[in-house]
Amino acid sequence: EKGGHEYFMLKEIEEQPEALANTLRGHFADGRIVLDEQRLADQDLREIDKVFVVACGSAYHSGLVAKYAIEHWCRLPVEVELASEFRYRDPVLDRDTLVVAVSQSGETADTLEAVRHAREQKARVLAVCNTNGAQIPRESDAVLYTHAGPEIGVASTKAFLAQIAANYLVGLALAGARGTKYPDEVAREFHELEAMPEAVGRVLGTAGQVRELAAGLADSKAVLFLGRHVGYPVALEGALKLKELAYMHAEGFAAGELKHGPIALIEEGLPVVVVMPSSKGRATLHSKLLSNIREIQARGAQTIVIAQEGDETVRPFADHLIEVPAVSTLLQPLVSTVPLQIFAAEIAKARGYDVDKPRNLAKSVTVE
Ligand code: F6R
Repeated sequence: EKGGHEYFMLKEIEEQPEALANTLRGHFADGRIVLDEQRLADQDLREIDKVFVVACGSAYHSGLVAKYAIEHWCRLPVEVELASEFRYRDPVLDRDTLVVAVSQSGETADTLEAVRHAREQKARVLAVCNTNGAQIPRESDAVLYTHAGPEIGVASTKAFLAQIAANYLVGLALAGARGTKYPDEVAREFHELEAMPEAVGRVLGTAGQVRELAAGLADSKAVLFLGRHVGYPVALEGALKLKELAYMHAEGFAAGELKHGPIALIEEGLPVVVVMPSSKGRATLHSKLLSNIREIQARGAQTIVIAQEGDETVRPFADHLIEVPAVSTLLQPLVSTVPLQIFAAEIAKARGYDVDKPRNLAKSVTVE
């Protein structure tokens, strides 16, 4: 049942194009996005004036990506919160607040309690979930299911990519119900989303190169990950995968924070993964990252750069270059995350660890 793979996780990484296609399928109707269950009127969606995304772990990282998309497409303020912190503060919630709860299992205790707290405060709750009929969707006002299929590997891969895709659909549904300041761009990204399974399929072609790279770095003490804008959550996710699978010290940073502390960590030979933004997108974003790579390379770091195909500007600064298909800036996490999943899994394998069952971790965390 591992389909010829040594580990479920490697099979699940390969299933990502299909997981994405299944998640996107059926939600596009007459230029609008339809949710799976909606016990909310369109009028309610129009009245929303603030969004919270609550989640844990990788699901939280998918929420960070959603913030960039929803704020831009819908001009709605979005806060992304670790579910375990959310209800212990006194978050400002009312009936015009939309709380998006993202959970693969739909049973994560912290996320469920955050949902209950939000509902007590009369907020509207939309669940993004991979498990039909789980507790979180049952207690929500609206549901969008990710159709990644069952995920056996403890570390989330295909469910994470499906969460990102579903979060985009939530953004597009809100933009559809409320209108958008950028109709052309939204229409373009709406259609581009449908092409993403194919793009993710092409990224899988980098597996051999990433495996080789990982084998050479399996004895590293630590790895840093840098990203900006939507590349920042990708960096966080890359670091989380490496921690949980390879038990290696790994940190993700917002590249702009380098000078504010983390640059002190850079030393000769330290592997640093840099997630480059699209070179066709905002020029300033791209050039800022280029100067970050230059800085760390000058200090002796070993640079591993995830960049868009045809981005020649990064070549001189990349000790290792992994090319991913060119897609819109906002959609880039769907392609740039994949090599980082393979990287973590291959390092873990090289170190002799069980990739499907990392120590101390459970697939679904049903205690707080
Ligand atoms: C990381 C991972 C965890 C989960 C987190 C939330 O690889 O799998 O961080 O993402 O425990 O789980 P769900 O999505 O089931 O609420």
